[in-house]
Amino acid sequence: YFLGIDVGTSAVKIILIEENGNVIGSISKEYPVYYPQPGWSEQNPEDWWNATKDGIRELIIKTGVKNYDIKGIGLSGQMHGLVVLDENNNVLMPAILWNDQRTQEECDYITQTLGKEKLAKYTGNKALTGFTAPKILWVRKHRPDIYKKIHHILLPKDYIRFKLTNEYATDVSDASGTLLFDVENRKWSTEMLDALDIPYNWMPKCYESTEVTGYVIKDVADLTGLKEGTIVVGGGGDQASGAVGTGTVKSGIVSVALGTSGVVFASQDKYVVDGENRLHSFCHANGKWHVMGVMLSAAACLKWWVDEINNFGKASVTYDELLEEAEKVRAGSGGLIFLPYLMGERTPHSDPYARGCFIGLNMTHNRGHMTRAILEGVAFGLRDSLEIIKELNIPVNEVRVSGGGAKSVLWRQVLADIFGVRVDMVNATEGPAFGAAIMAAVGYEVFKDVEEACSKLIKVSDSVYPIEENKDKYNEVYKIYRNLYYTLKDTFK
Ligand code: XUL
Repeated sequence: YFLGIDVGTSAVKIILIEENGNVIGSISKEYPVYYPQPGWSEQNPEDWWNATKDGIRELIIKTGVKNYDIKGIGLSGQMHGLVVLDENNNVLMPAILWNDQRTQEECDYITQTLGKEKLAKYTGNKALTGFTAPKILWVRKHRPDIYKKIHHILLPKDYIRFKLTNEYATDVSDASGTLLFDVENRKWSTEMLDALDIPYNWMPKCYESTEVTGYVIKDVADLTGLKEGTIVVGGGGDQASGAVGTGTVKSGIVSVALGTSGVVFASQDKYVVDGENRLHSFCHANGKWHVMGVMLSAAACLKWWVDEINNFGKASVTYDELLEEAEKVRAGSGGLIFLPYLMGERTPHSDPYARGCFIGLNMTHNRGHMTRAILEGVAFGLRDSLEIIKELNIPVNEVRVSGGGAKSVLWRQVLADIFGVRVDMVNATEGPAFGAAIMAAVGYEVFKDVEEACSKLIKVSDSVYPIEENKDKYNEVYKIYRNLYYTLKDTFK
């Protein structure tokens, strides 16, 4: 058996698979996100660990497997988050997460200090508020007391690795999102670390995703029921792991993850950079590369909507009820458009100040229209990234969708109609955790490489095809959607 652990934003998801890809058990444990100021987003790394260790123990008990039959562990996690440890490995402050937007000044500083060209040359990317490097600079400026105590910097899943194995390590796909990584050459960028005056020895050792990075230590074995010495492989950022989990490991297939964030991801055999750096260029978990566009609030918009209806209206409406109402509304939501920028936006606008809106409300609109407009607004936001991928001449033959939002057939239909291509699901619904377990199986040498594992284990299912009439309608609405951000931009500041 192989264990995959995905340290997500809303919960840790842990999955146990057999060598043939059968999922024999999974568990999910939630923890809170804190938004202490508008645009800030934090979590407590100890919450991740408590949820993970309890989850592993419960899953082992629930499935009744013998711990010596668990041959390896793979880690996946929300990317870019900053975890800082002191010399005794204590967490110095809450982790600043991927969707935190407090670092625009630091991003401007990085861009000015290096210049756009050098930045792109050294890292393959541009400075974005979500990335790790500007967060480190923010701590240096605003929390100097903490900064001077830093001994180690880790990404979220790598904090869990540290707890499991006592090793400070990361993998190339997650390291790609720090803006301190030489994506083309798959190693830390000494140029970036020097230019920003960040000590090299703070950075964890970097591995390929299927390499062994350490072994489960005795204390953790006692706590969780795992066997001491079980291997832990590099694993990947949740997007690369999710792509492995959907078999997005060769060109032509594009994966879309509808989680808290929304991601459009295309695998590349060669290192490719979008000249304007609108898309991220990162290392993939299969030894190759990928480009991706990221929306900061995707399924998070629907979660916000259901939560607010329930809190504000003192109601107890379920997702299913809302989606049923939305299904009765025709494509285009009766002229209502939703901009999904509840946490600002990354791709394509790189604008932490962008905000969400309903535009075009009239007296005929009801809650169903509003829910449908949210599904459509998120899909239009994803289409923005898909259009850039097409501009780069990357083929888009098929879209594979995963994440919590993918459970809705209606949302998948809206995606197919708005993208104008077939949208598939795959057998593994726990995308990133499944991908991480696959990497562990490759690390244990059950498979030659990630591609071989994916071709044997991933099966496509539940294809949804675009409906011509809706496709045409959405092409019209998309033109309006595209202009709205630019029209409203100045009002968001
Ligand atoms: C990827 C990103 C998000 C997080 C969310 O660049 O920021 O998708 O990984 O989990």
